[in-house]
Amino acid sequence: MSPVLKRTLRYFLPYWWLLLLSALFSLVVGAMDGAFAYLVEPVLQRIFAGKDTTIFLLVPMGIVILFLVRGVSRYIYDATIKLAGQKAIQDIRNDFFRLTTRQDMSFYNRQATGDLMSRMTNDISTMQEGMGQVVTGLFRDLISLAALLGVIFYRNWQLATISFIVFPLTIYPAQLIGKKIKNAARRSLDVMGGLGTTIQETFSGIKVIKAFGLEQQISERFEQENHNFLQQFKRYIKYSSLATPVTEMIVSLGVAAVIYVGGSQVMAGRMTPAELFSFIAAMIMLFTPVKKLQSSYNVMQRSAGAAERVFQTMDAQRSIVDKPDAVELARVSGRVEFQEVGFRYGDEPVLQGVNLAVAPGQMVALVGPSGSGKSTMAALLMRFYDVDQGAILLDGHDLRDISLVSLNRQFALVDQETTLFNDTIANNIRYGRPDASDAEVEAAARAAFADDFIQQLPEGYATNIGDRGARLSGGQRQRLCIARALIKDAPILILDEATSALDTESEKMVQQALENLMRNRTTFVIAHRLSTVQNADLIVVLEQGNILEIGSHADLVAGSGLYSRLHALQFSDQPEPVAA
Ligand SMILES: Nc1ncnc2c1ncn2[C@@H]1O[C@H](COP(=O)(O)OP(=O)(O)OP(=O)(O)O)[C@@H](O)[C@H]1O
Ligand SMILES: [Mg+2]
Repeated sequence: MSPVLKRTLRYFLPYWWLLLLSALFSLVVGAMDGAFAYLVEPVLQRIFAGKDTTIFLLVPMGIVILFLVRGVSRYIYDATIKLAGQKAIQDIRNDFFRLTTRQDMSFYNRQATGDLMSRMTNDISTMQEGMGQVVTGLFRDLISLAALLGVIFYRNWQLATISFIVFPLTIYPAQLIGKKIKNAARRSLDVMGGLGTTIQETFSGIKVIKAFGLEQQISERFEQENHNFLQQFKRYIKYSSLATPVTEMIVSLGVAAVIYVGGSQVMAGRMTPAELFSFIAAMIMLFTPVKKLQSSYNVMQRSAGAAERVFQTMDAQRSIVDKPDAVELARVSGRVEFQEVGFRYGDEPVLQGVNLAVAPGQMVALVGPSGSGKSTMAALLMRFYDVDQGAILLDGHDLRDISLVSLNRQFALVDQETTLFNDTIANNIRYGRPDASDAEVEAAARAAFADDFIQQLPEGYATNIGDRGARLSGGQRQRLCIARALIKDAPILILDEATSALDTESEKMVQQALENLMRNRTTFVIAHRLSTVQNADLIVVLEQGNILEIGSHADLVAGSGLYSRLHALQFSDQPEPVAA
């Protein structure tokens, strides 16, 4: 058994009792099938003998009862096995979600969101389809097969042997086809992942698509990918449709042999016609489970193709994990040190030899041109990535020695991208601290100067803000993000362009609120507008991943470095950055 299949089946283990129940009742169904085939002989015998008239009453009654028992049993085994399948799939889906959400940031840089979504939905449904059918069919068909084989061997073991010889002949082509099906399924799901990426990007970037009039272009790209999908899927159609005819042709050899040998036995008087009928009935009935087993096998192969992709994602190696003896940090005082930090995302170095010491409660501003590495420094501080050289220390502990959960508690982030969720305003703020009370939520909103606009919304704090906060303005979104960070009440605050979308007046107000909050907290502020960072204890000027200068506003303005040049630019020819 392939490892993928084994791993899939392991998800069924907790539901063994459902499987057992199902197996028991499928035994009954199989037995009924066998009984039916067996009864053909005595019934025909008596009809042909033409004396026993009670048979006309008993046989129809017998058939009804037989199928009643069979029907009830079938219902039970079907329902229980499907339930077990759904439960197993539910566990797989949960594991997939839990494992992927815990993946490193670098995993998400590599992996397209749409492709992940496609794995989570399409691949897992394909797995589910397979598992449902396979486990459902496997018991029943194997048991029917055994019962029917019993009948044919009992009736005439010589004939049975002849017909039995053909079955092994079907195995090799079946395996070959199964392999092709698995590969076809894998490839078509790969293409489906690309399709998912296009869909996801289109709908989340619909504004840009519309603004640039790209509807036609994106539709063509979609149609092309959709076409590719069908091309790949055609291979699946080809092989799965080929499977049954091939088996049937091979099996027909057996039937032909049986009719030849059986017919001559009847003529020679070594077998009654009724016996031959019963034998042939059993053989024809045997067709069904054999065919079904074959198609189960094919569906299983398809499912294995999907499962490979699913498990591959689940098994992606994480590099950012707790050390076995990781330190559990209580609330830190907020001393941060970058020691000779070097970092690269790919081959290009992004930070080099960065040294920085921040005392608890200090406000540090990171300034510098776009792409100079400011957000990267913040990401490293939160250990979204591990540094390639040097170390970052928090209260004297190397970040890599601290347990991830306790590290996470130390930071509140307002990111450059204002990420909000399709939920109410109150709940969006509460993402900062899930157990916050309504009063605390409102206090945070007031501190972020968001309370005013929230009150004006039709449903206030209960207003749903739409997908990614689409129903809010940029500045409103930013204020909600600030409120969300404030409510977390973490000892270190990271504000990455946190007030860039606000007008000067609101910015000043939010700035004031933030300044109150910055007290007793170490704060990292990233800003392009230098007016926002003048009060910083420490201004760090970055360029191309190197620290050019460090000092207070007064120190740096007095010098002749990048900061004083930027400062001169920002404050000379524009009186007040009203239209910033
Ligand atoms: N996820 C990533 N994968 C690969 N390269 C990245 C990634 N994020 C940033 N970079 C690269 O790292 C460099 C620094 O990026 P960073 O986001 O830290 O800049 P920044 O100083 O925050 O700029 P901005 O002011 O525009 O926000 C850039 O050259 C960028 O191309
Ligand atoms: Mg940035």
